[in-house]
Amino acid sequence: MEHLASLTDWSPDTLMSVLNRAQELKSTPDLFSGAAARKVLFMIFEKPSLRTRVSFETGMVRMGGHAINYDVSTSPLGAGKESLSDTIKVVSRYADLIVARLYKHSDLVEMIEHAGVPVINGLTDYSHPCQIMADLLTIREHKGDLAGRTLCFLGDGNNNVTHSLLLGCAMVGMNIRVGCPQGEAFEPLSEVVRKAYALADISGGSCQITANAKDAAAHADIVYTDSWMSYHIDPSELDGRVKQFMPYQVTQEIMAVADPEAIFMNCLPAARGYEQTAEVIDGPQSVVFDQAENRLHAQNAIMLRLLETSGHAYA
Ligand code: CP
Ligand code: NVA
Repeated sequence: MEHLASLTDWSPDTLMSVLNRAQELKSTPDLFSGAAARKVLFMIFEKPSLRTRVSFETGMVRMGGHAINYDVSTSPLGAGKESLSDTIKVVSRYADLIVARLYKHSDLVEMIEHAGVPVINGLTDYSHPCQIMADLLTIREHKGDLAGRTLCFLGDGNNNVTHSLLLGCAMVGMNIRVGCPQGEAFEPLSEVVRKAYALADISGGSCQITANAKDAAAHADIVYTDSWMSYHIDPSELDGRVKQFMPYQVTQEIMAVADPEAIFMNCLPAARGYEQTAEVIDGPQSVVFDQAENRLHAQNAIMLRLLETSGHAYA
């Protein structure tokens, strides 16, 4: 059974076909109004969410299905009365699809082991594939063909969004440069970087990790950043992290070394004055709300793909 734990669960061709479907869903939504008729999406969130939670539910409703938001804090699972594996085996008897936002990626892997229906990664500490599908759709809308485009990510390198960007960009032949502080705590995990290098070799893209923010941003087509205080980071780490990451803040000075037509991206939620200045995120180069909208279209395409490959598609 096909799941979406990581973008590398798909071949680059499959990823592109899902992106193409997302574009169709966006431009001709009426053609898909019954595409998930009577299908049920079960959504389980251990962490906060605006975009993921609302876009998945809206998407399912727009395609004729239904979504259930399951509150872990009032569940037998949350109360320590039921195991993750029993929970997922039960849910698989009701729902056609599962989306899970979890702390530990290993819990997502465990869920997948026990699931009788496809599971979609709605973010773990390790990766965020749905976000990057929306981002690639957004980049294509603003910049045309993905292959050959250069994306600069600045800030927290050891981060779910950074990991998925490395893999996604490498799969589609983009050049990705990550500008982040040196050291294990702030750099992308080496296993992800190794995979990204290997994928880029095949696609004709490239990857680079550097501690120099301006080198990372030079002539880039896209400048991307994400929170310095991801949901799983303890609030007591704020001061230390601000010190480490401030040299990687996206400012007008950084945007000035990127391509003059560069777009600015942030998966949101954003903290003005931290990972970027207000003038950048609220300025003319920012496409952050297009990104947020595209979560809906990208995820509808992901859900249709997984319904089809699992034999749960509307017949
Ligand atoms: N970008 C994103 O996943 O947003 P939420 O945390 O609001 O779902
Ligand atoms: N890296 C961020 C992404 C939020 C969508 C986090 O994990 O909180």
